[in-house]
Amino acid sequence: MDDVSRYIDQHRARFVDELATWVKIPAISSDPSHVKDMAANAEHLKNHLAALGPDQVEVWPTKGHPAVFAEWNHAPGKPTLLVYGHHDVQPVDPLPEWISPPFEPAIREGRMWGRGVVDDKGQVMIHANAIEAFVKTQKKLPINLKLIVEGEEEIGSENLDELMRANASRLAADFVCVSDTAMFGRGIPSLCVGLRGLMYLEVTVSGPKGDLHSGSFGGGVANPVNVLAKMIAKLHDDDGKVTVPGFYDKVAILTAAERKEIASLPFDEKEWLASTGSPAISGEKGFSTLERVWARPTLDCNGIWGGFQGEGAKTIIPARASAKISCRLVPHQEPEEIQQLVASYLKKLAPPGVTVRVEYMHGGRPYLAPTDHPVFEVAKRAFTRAFGKPTVFIREGGSIPFVRTIADATGKPCLLMGFGQPDENAHAPNEWLDLENFHLGIKSAAFLYDELSRIGKS
Ligand code: BES
Ligand code: ZN
Repeated sequence: MDDVSRYIDQHRARFVDELATWVKIPAISSDPSHVKDMAANAEHLKNHLAALGPDQVEVWPTKGHPAVFAEWNHAPGKPTLLVYGHHDVQPVDPLPEWISPPFEPAIREGRMWGRGVVDDKGQVMIHANAIEAFVKTQKKLPINLKLIVEGEEEIGSENLDELMRANASRLAADFVCVSDTAMFGRGIPSLCVGLRGLMYLEVTVSGPKGDLHSGSFGGGVANPVNVLAKMIAKLHDDDGKVTVPGFYDKVAILTAAERKEIASLPFDEKEWLASTGSPAISGEKGFSTLERVWARPTLDCNGIWGGFQGEGAKTIIPARASAKISCRLVPHQEPEEIQQLVASYLKKLAPPGVTVRVEYMHGGRPYLAPTDHPVFEVAKRAFTRAFGKPTVFIREGGSIPFVRTIADATGKPCLLMGFGQPDENAHAPNEWLDLENFHLGIKSAAFLYDELSRIGKS
């Protein structure tokens, strides 16, 4: 492993440059004007991997954006690891808030700044670089490795299930690793053992057939903006609980041991609050902040619009108002069920003067890892070898739909070995990747492959 480790040290600067080159492609999956960039992005990755001696490397088309698949089967008798990542990125707005342009990656303060540097291009390259280090120094990998990098994670992985079903045998593996999460803090190797799920919908409240003069009609018909605001306000009670009937019915209650483990982490709530810029902590009564963001379900309005938004004043009763609403889910809530519950409740809350239409957008299931599985000890050893520090178990409040899909399909645990930072500005202006984490991430991945080669197939 010394050769591999040395290679990673020697090629540190080039790895950074190569990541920067990839980050320049604006692979925004949600924006139809970037369809060609998505294809170019997949092609770029395919070409990069092709130079690392895989047995196969292919772009897999879908009904939406393409995925990239590669495999190295050089280790007969050794376990097979499936590594997952995504090559799509989030939109960049509000653009004026970026210190350097999102698709012109810049290096400042030991970090790379740009859209997708950590979510998730940098973390995909961590694995590509670890693979390279083995291929160039040992001529082969110590395990069999399959890499699937999808292009629709940021928009709900809509075509992923079908892609995985169609290619089930090619994706078969003994272990699964996903690098698309953050560490608990700088230099603290962290294994994420829980993710929340997601249910996303759009609701539209309609009243009159067109905007009306608010002088002539105000007071005579329902105002959809007023109505929608009131409906949304009724979705939480004063204790921060979601009021949708049945919402908590299937929620797995945190055990005393789980609460103890979460409480044992060195969480600095003041620092966390400061990183958000919000003036105070807020949320469901009866739970700590970490419990609320990791292991409790939520309902949030992501956007709301309707009526006059231009400059100056315009006196109307708007014809309609809409909102995008999402719920973060915990075991054992199911997105389809929660969608039904929220949609029925929204319809029930609406007064007679309006009609309500609800459109389901996407969802993903929550995940809780079986931490007593031996592979977690293996991952801990790999982390310790790279970072020289003990690993902590954490959860994340975000969602990665693939994780539950693969865990359900294969019955194998999924290792969530992420190298981001909690305040990395993912999805926001000025996303950054800590370059030390990037470097140690490459080493951790290499040590993981090495550690897995020493244990049997699962
Ligand atoms: N990398 C994130 C997942 C994540 C978020 C991990 C926060 C750790 C903390 C991923 O790319 C993401 O943003 N996922 C979406 C999924 C959704 C569109 C189904 C999310 O969580 O909003
Ligand atoms: Zn991501």
